Amino acid sequence: MKKELSIETLAVHGTYKRDETGATNPPIYLSNAYQFQNAEHAANLFDLSTAGYIYSRLNNPTSSVLEETVAALEGGIAALACASGQFAEFMTIVTLAKPGDNVVTSTLLYGGTHTLFTSQFARLGIEFRFANPANIEEFEKQIDDKTKAIYLEAVANPQGFVPDFEKFAALANKYKLPLVVDSTCATPYLLRPIEHGAHIVIHSATKFLAGHGAVLGGIVVDSGKFDWANSGRFEEFNTPDESYHGLVFTKHFGPACFAAKIRVSAMRDIGGAISPFNSFLIQQGIGTLHLRMKAHVENAKQLAAYLKTNKNVAWVKYNGLEGDENYTNASKYLKEKGASLLTFGIKGGYEKCKKFIEKVTLPIHVVNIGDIKTIVTHPASTTHRQVPDKELEAIGISGDLIRVSVGIENINDIIADFERALED
Ligand SMILES: Cc1ncc(COP(=O)(O)O)c(C=O)c1O
Repeated sequence: MKKELSIETLAVHGTYKRDETGATNPPIYLSNAYQFQNAEHAANLFDLSTAGYIYSRLNNPTSSVLEETVAALEGGIAALACASGQFAEFMTIVTLAKPGDNVVTSTLLYGGTHTLFTSQFARLGIEFRFANPANIEEFEKQIDDKTKAIYLEAVANPQGFVPDFEKFAALANKYKLPLVVDSTCATPYLLRPIEHGAHIVIHSATKFLAGHGAVLGGIVVDSGKFDWANSGRFEEFNTPDESYHGLVFTKHFGPACFAAKIRVSAMRDIGGAISPFNSFLIQQGIGTLHLRMKAHVENAKQLAAYLKTNKNVAWVKYNGLEGDENYTNASKYLKEKGASLLTFGIKGGYEKCKKFIEKVTLPIHVVNIGDIKTIVTHPASTTHRQVPDKELEAIGISGDLIRVSVGIENINDIIADFERALED
């Protein structure tokens, strides 16, 4: 008999257990603090010897439902929601690394992530070493005793690159390193990175998980599969934490110790909690994740095929298109053999791109992805503006590149609109 619920059923029902009111949606607990039963109960909560709610910077019952739902969708042991995808990345890295440490990562990353890694973390003394994700040897060469993680995007934004996860998992295991995957553009409907060896999964829930473009949110999922006690790289997980009276995370929390540490150390100290209202809205969005993702990919395939035929289009890159450089891995790892993001170049370069973006009427022109509405963006002047020109060229973000986050409208309307906007 089938043990686990399918993704579709989990998405619809989540992990919410109805309370005594019978409310079918999780209540929004707008409370920043929680009444202790007595002084001893309070002390036990603070010692982490009892589980429960203390203060909404640490946890909140509405957000707990979202965390448990996403953990279940990803097949992880626990998850932690926070204010944004950027904050999910920040907390993950500060929990893994300290000054003097390094992380080996891909050259193909969302621009904001690239900037976070090269600006804020450089200031904090944590080095990011960049490598071409198509060349695993480049990653291996940069790993040393101070490396604390390998970091990838499941579907690179905007290049659509899909890594060969099995190879990266083997590399991570060889060096006893956690493999961290930002799966924002894949979502657990298209890909469950933990099944392919990822140890930590990150989401900007702002995007496809929510789907409505209404709120920001971030999620970190702990697979529970990394051996923090024996990797030899994570002393802080294995030595007494004086801020918790000598508690040792690996002993106290076992396989869920990363999720626990991120919450009770990083969230406690830095903040960045998600609003329960946002958690509720993301949970509502997840209810249709499977339907939306299927429609996103179907539409992206049709739009990419159309763009290939337009005489004013210089090139099209879409991982769901046969013959594309990312098609092999997209077919191997993504459920619908493609994702929602595609990029294309317009003959005539920058000026024509500007015209196109101003001429389309249905897509929204914003720096977001994952909305049910189609989105067109010019990354070189927006999302990747802080990345130096030389690096932009090296990672394939040319001035003539338009990124499309293909929505779930009737694709014929979008195609007609693109056709009009691409006319001379
Ligand atoms: C792949 C990816 N990761 C992380 C982020 C950051 O997420 P947020 O905007 O929720 O901070 C983004 C934002 O576009 C993204 O595309």
